[in-house]
Amino acid sequence: EHLALWGGRFSSGPSPELALLSKSTQFDWRLADDDIAGSRAHARALGRAGLLTPDELQRMENALDELQRRVDSGEFAPIEDDEDEATALERGLIDIAGDELGGKLRAGRSRNDQIATLIRMWLRRHARIVAKQVLALADALCEQAKAAGRTVMPGRTHMQHAQPVLLAHQLMAHVWPLLRDVERFIDWDSRVDASPYGSGALAGNTLGLEPTVVARELGFTKVTENSIDGTSSRDLVAEYSFVAAMIGVDISRLSEEIIIWNTQEFGFVTLDDAYSTGSSIMPQKKNPDIAELARGKAGRLIGDLTGLLATLKGLPTAYARDLQEDKEAVFDQTDTLEVLLPAFTGMVRTMRFNAERLEQEAPTGFALATDIAEWLVKNGVPFRHAHELSGACVKLAESRGEELWDLSDDDFIEIFRGFVAPEQAVKVREVLSTEGSVSARAGKGGTAPTRVREQIMSAKSQIERL
Ligand code: ARG
Repeated sequence: EHLALWGGRFSSGPSPELALLSKSTQFDWRLADDDIAGSRAHARALGRAGLLTPDELQRMENALDELQRRVDSGEFAPIEDDEDEATALERGLIDIAGDELGGKLRAGRSRNDQIATLIRMWLRRHARIVAKQVLALADALCEQAKAAGRTVMPGRTHMQHAQPVLLAHQLMAHVWPLLRDVERFIDWDSRVDASPYGSGALAGNTLGLEPTVVARELGFTKVTENSIDGTSSRDLVAEYSFVAAMIGVDISRLSEEIIIWNTQEFGFVTLDDAYSTGSSIMPQKKNPDIAELARGKAGRLIGDLTGLLATLKGLPTAYARDLQEDKEAVFDQTDTLEVLLPAFTGMVRTMRFNAERLEQEAPTGFALATDIAEWLVKNGVPFRHAHELSGACVKLAESRGEELWDLSDDDFIEIFRGFVAPEQAVKVREVLSTEGSVSARAGKGGTAPTRVREQIMSAKSQIERL
């Protein structure tokens, strides 16, 4: 059987150990449909070049139809002896069409240009599926942001209370990276939209086949400009892999936040029962497993990318068998994301925020200290001094175990003495509210409710457009 592919100059088939190592059908069989589509286009190219008679072409197309039917029904599948999906499908075609005709299809193509084309076809299709799922997640976040209204929460840097922000603003901060991931896929698609079919093993084909027509039939608008590049570059596979890993990282960041928000101490969010898990021993437990799995799977998604890049590094130009290793990385990433994203979106869509608690925590931890400093600036105090005066307010409140708004009029008059007149000094209270604080941040991209509303609308319309 092995002699079928390259028997001519060999006196024995491969050793069983080699066959076992070489075999890839366990993961590349999912390219079978794309392979058959390629074979169809290739058969027609052979027909146009006069290498198949009209009658042969007709019979070849019928045989490919039958092969597709057998693959779909599971009647035909790889067997132990098949090295890869291409080997298996050639065996299947010959079973149907006979040696004479079935053996003609291989002319003018190589598994090198085939596999380089098939992986592009497969990835382009799945990039669309994953992108749609990412958009669904972005949309769920927008809906949560809408529902959050003007609810204020503690905004943090270094995990410390920094300045109050709208819950909606915080949620939307996770939408934009996701939309950029989708844009990355779209941008990537324009580069991967070139077919290597017809490149042969590396140098092109001598049979006068027209790669442009084949390309069009396989959904590509262009043909790769260089047959060596077409058959041996995998930068486009790596780029897909990067976007997949980036989606994992973006989701992992949100996961970490949800996990913390969901702790007893924070109590910011409650996960829906249908999207959380229990404990086999502790009856009270309700765990954020989806977020944890997302965080964990980000590691795996990054590992796939890293492994792929390491495989590509140091390869000499033109096909080497190492390139067979490109597929499992991106298949695993795709499988991972296609299962993860719907679950994650369900969790996000159904989680409920504890608005009261968020509002209550928002101004604590001296989160309004910047507002005091900026109020002082508006009253003519240079920021360097304003920063110090506001810091003095924090220091005093902290020493008493109080918050900024607990300071007395006399405290403010005393601290601001020499910079702000006493009757003006007491007016600082006007900025000591979270509502005032967020509303004041009204520049483009800021957390003021009007800006955030615009932001949600802009994201929504982008989601519809993408
Ligand atoms: N299965 C290989 C791959 O996935 C394609 C076969 C190319 N083999 C070869 N000996 N040229 O990359």
